[in-house]
Amino acid sequence: MVKKKTCIFISGQGSNLKNLIFHSRDNSFPIKISLVISNSKKAKGIQYAKKYKIPYFFINTKIKNYENKILLILKKHKISFICLAGYMKMISNSLIKSYQKKIVNIHPSLLPKFKGLNTFSRMLKNREIKGGCTVHFVNEKLDSGNTIIQKEFFINSEDDERTLKYKTQKLEYRAFPEAIIKIFRNN
Ligand code: GRF
Repeated sequence: MVKKKTCIFISGQGSNLKNLIFHSRDNSFPIKISLVISNSKKAKGIQYAKKYKIPYFFINTKIKNYENKILLILKKHKISFICLAGYMKMISNSLIKSYQKKIVNIHPSLLPKFKGLNTFSRMLKNREIKGGCTVHFVNEKLDSGNTIIQKEFFINSEDDERTLKYKTQKLEYRAFPEAIIKIFRNN
């Protein structure tokens, strides 16, 4: 099996990156992580790129045409698939057009509920019964592309933002690899 050369975009901790690196070391997993892009030099997740000797790149989103720069780097590394794993920037339309149905994102809620930021505080305020995560294709609208996989759990009265994050991320570490397997099995 020829693995798809994949770039992971991050902004922070990178625990999903770490998890995907772990899964991608399995011969039967459909992707190889060939590049990591971060929009922040402070992103702790870069440590995993360094540790596992994956090329990484910091992108300054304040400069003009920074998305063109991203496109060039992706082309240079022959990237054919992109995972957004805690990337806190919107992806431009030109990038979406170049990678139609080839960009996926993980979001910490049961979409279409709670698109955008601060999902856990809004869920608590809304007295939601269930939390969860969604892996979906990325389109021009925020957190709105087709869902690939969702996983859910029941919220209890003792849950706070910290426990909701913990429970959600535990599910994310299963959902993201499963979604990737599902995408390439259908291709
Ligand atoms: C994840 O919980 C994901 O749902 C959200 O950002 C978080 C990133 O966490 N989009 P990490 O950087 O992978 O640890």
